[in-house]
Amino acid sequence: MIRVCFVCLGNICRSPIAEGVFRNLLELEGLSTRIEAESAGIAAYHVGEAPDPRARAAGLRRGIPIQGSARQFRPKDFARFDYVLAMDRSNLDDLEIGVPDADRHKLKLLRSFDPKSPQGASVPDPYYGPETGFDQVVEICVDACRGLLAQIRRERQL
Ligand code: 4NP
Repeated sequence: MIRVCFVCLGNICRSPIAEGVFRNLLELEGLSTRIEAESAGIAAYHVGEAPDPRARAAGLRRGIPIQGSARQFRPKDFARFDYVLAMDRSNLDDLEIGVPDADRHKLKLLRSFDPKSPQGASVPDPYYGPETGFDQVVEICVDACRGLLAQIRRERQL
């Protein structure tokens, strides 16, 4: 099994959206038995909470269920995952502090897999903004997750 973890700050908006989008893609492409997706947050403020209702609604507008219960990413998680995808630069910086050298190659910005994204692009934090920000996050995640899956297929000959 190939394991992917999406990481944002709170694990209630962006990373659960990315997880739902990626799982949906795995189902559509018949890869759910080969690749597994989870998500986690840098911060512990929302541990145990379901995804933000605005994230769930934006997913459903696109036919994608957004589910889960927030948890905090721990440095020991690096051992469990093959790919750890940060939503923004700040998340990446925080993850880089705890990553063992042997696992550093697993860590990337999610949008680095979207060839149309500028270098270093982040998934913008929609938490304090309007509802439309959540739809934008879904679209950004759809494009980036397609690129991520294409890369995993190439690397793993799937
Ligand atoms: P997320 O969004 O990192 O995409 O889950 C946020 C959720 C909560 C907070 C910030 C961002 N917060 O400050 O509580």
